[in-house]
Amino acid sequence: MYNSKITGLGFYVPDNVITNDDLSKMMDTNDEWIQERTGIKERHWIPEGSDDTSATMGAKAAKIAIERAGLSKDDIDFIVFATLSPDYYFPGCGVQIQDMLELPTIGAIDIRNQCSGFVYALSTADQFIKTGMYKNILVIGSEYHSNGLDKTTRGRGVGVLFGDGAGACVLSRTEDNTKGILSTHLHSQGKYADKLVVHSPSIKNWVPKIIASNGEDISYFPYMDGTFVFKHAVVRFSEAIMEGLTANNLTVNDLDMFIPHQANLRISQFVQRKFKLRDDQIYNNIMQYGNTTAASIIIALTEAWEKGKIKDNDLIVLAAFGSGFTWGSVVIRW
Ligand code: UT7
Repeated sequence: MYNSKITGLGFYVPDNVITNDDLSKMMDTNDEWIQERTGIKERHWIPEGSDDTSATMGAKAAKIAIERAGLSKDDIDFIVFATLSPDYYFPGCGVQIQDMLELPTIGAIDIRNQCSGFVYALSTADQFIKTGMYKNILVIGSEYHSNGLDKTTRGRGVGVLFGDGAGACVLSRTEDNTKGILSTHLHSQGKYADKLVVHSPSIKNWVPKIIASNGEDISYFPYMDGTFVFKHAVVRFSEAIMEGLTANNLTVNDLDMFIPHQANLRISQFVQRKFKLRDDQIYNNIMQYGNTTAASIIIALTEAWEKGKIKDNDLIVLAAFGSGFTWGSVVIRW
């Protein structure tokens, strides 16, 4: 059986930085509350009038990843695109990437698993490589949150958390079974779907219903029961890490770098304390980007790699938890 290995990484965020003070001009919030509860200092939001979308940001990140992998567009065999904020209700963003990057008419799928989207996407790509079906797969996580947030005081519990951005990697076939993705682990628990959700537009709750509600229907803004999600997140993050390590007969002592989905700095710090990780064993960048959902892990992995924090042979664990609920982990020998 083949193994799979990340051979190129890239990320893109819009230039437009929104600080916590900027938000306090839109709603009743303040820098102290946001930093104390979440660790977030600023986030990047696509400015009005920009042509950027989840698909275009994904394409920009993907271009960098393909170049760094030393490949050309004709080498890419398949596209896996994770997002909860696609440009269209359908089709998905994956097919837009095929067109935007002028790739051959290869297959493309979208993954709808929110904050766990990138872990699910990487796991999906990993299966296609390990079975021998494809050699080089473009895996993208991208989110355009800012256009879908309630930016009034009514939505402040969620609106201050999310940022826009994209990350991408090329996952390639290798015959070296000591390096690359060692294992992936995926979970879901749909009974908590309503705890972190955007209810509409959906076929169940379609446009005429929203228009008839006279602008008072908040079902098209994200809703989160923050405390409930937080409590589950700390448990599931810990389980996901342990499951990944145990499956490979490893322990926390073997871990060189843990890259958590950037949901809340307090969640990352809880996990760090629980597993007694040193500061150089965990990478956080929620302070600068907010929560970018399916893009957060791949942006963090790319940034950590660019800063030289990931070295040959390092043991890396990626873990995510979020809406669904969904959660999971990926164990990588770099
Ligand atoms: O990425 C997917 C997974 N997501 C997560 O894992 C997120 C998990 N949850 C969280 O990170 C936290 O629950 C939040 C950051 C969302 C909220 O923090 P919290 O400490 O749980 O605050 P809270 O929701 O209990 O709200 C506390 C108070 C409330 O006021 P009262 O009722 O105590 O008077 C809120 O109305 O803070 C108020 N509040 C705000 N105040 C200023 C809520 N949002 C804001 C805000 N600015 N933006």
